[in-house]
Amino acid sequence: MTDRYAVFGHPIAHSKSPQIHAAFARQTGQDMTYEAILAPLDGFADSIAQFVTAGGRGANVTVPFKEEAYTLAQRLSPRAQRAGAVNTLVFNAEGILGDNTDGAGLVADLTRNLNHTLAGKRILLLGAGGAARGVIEPLLEQQPAALVIANRTVSRAQELADLFGHGVAACSFEAANTPFDLIINATAASLAGELPPLSANAFNATTLAYDMMYGRDTPFLSFARTQGAATADGLGMLVEQAAEAFFVWRGVRPDTAAVIASLRAA
Ligand code: ATR
Repeated sequence: MTDRYAVFGHPIAHSKSPQIHAAFARQTGQDMTYEAILAPLDGFADSIAQFVTAGGRGANVTVPFKEEAYTLAQRLSPRAQRAGAVNTLVFNAEGILGDNTDGAGLVADLTRNLNHTLAGKRILLLGAGGAARGVIEPLLEQQPAALVIANRTVSRAQELADLFGHGVAACSFEAANTPFDLIINATAASLAGELPPLSANAFNATTLAYDMMYGRDTPFLSFARTQGAATADGLGMLVEQAAEAFFVWRGVRPDTAAVIASLRAA
C-alpha cells in the first residue's frame, strides 16, 4: 500500500514541498504520496488527527504551526527539544514523534552545497524568533569561533543566548559592527520587503550573506552585495531540510543537487 505524507501549513498553496518529495520518491523508488494540506488556524491538531486516522505515516509542518506541533508530539528528538519547534512528524505504533530538520538543512546547504566551512568562523545570526532558535544548536555543533545573535528586540536575542549558553552573544543590529564570515538572516523582515538596520562594517569581501527566505531577491541580500559580500538564498536549505525529513521517514538519503537545480531553473 502506498504510504501517505503531507505538509501542513496556513497558507500552504505555494509550498514547494510536494514537488520536492515527489522528486525524492521518484529518484529513490519509494512508494509514497505527499500532499499539501491547509489546516485551519485553530484546527491544526484536528487536521493532523484526521490525517493519522486516514493512514498518514508522517508530515512536515510549516508556518504557523511549528510550535503547536512541538506541543502535539508525544515524543521529541533531542534536536526538536532544543529547537523548541517541530517541522517533521512521524506517526507510528508509539504515537507521534516530533523532529526538527531545519537546522540540519541549513548546515547541509552551507557546508555541502556552498562549501562553506563553519568551524572557527564568526557567525552573525539575525533574528530571535522560531526560525533563528531552530538553527542555533546545529550551527554550534560545527564549532564556530563565535555566534552572535542580533535582534530588533535585544532582550529576545539575550534570552536565546542565555538558553544556549557558552560562546553565544546577543546584541542589537547596529552593534554588530565588526566583520563576520557568515551572516544569516532569520528575521521575518524579508517577508515584509524590509532591511534590518545593519552596519556595513559587519560585511567584507569574504562574508557569505545567507537569507533563509527564497524565491526573490531580498533587501538583505542586495545590501550584502553592495558591501562586496557573496550571497545565497534559502532554496538549498528548503531542499536539504526536506531531504533530512525524507531520511527520517524512509531511511534513504535522496540526491539534493538535482532537485535544487531543477527548482532554481523553474
Ligand atoms: P519566525 O518563526 O519566522 O522566526 P517569529 O518568532 O515571529 O517568527 O520571529 C520573527 C523574527 O523576525 C523576530 O526576530 C523579529 O524581531 P522581534 O523579536 O524584534 O520582533 C524579526 N522581525 C520581524 N519583522 C522585522 C523587521 N521588519 N525588521 C527586523 N526584524 C524583524
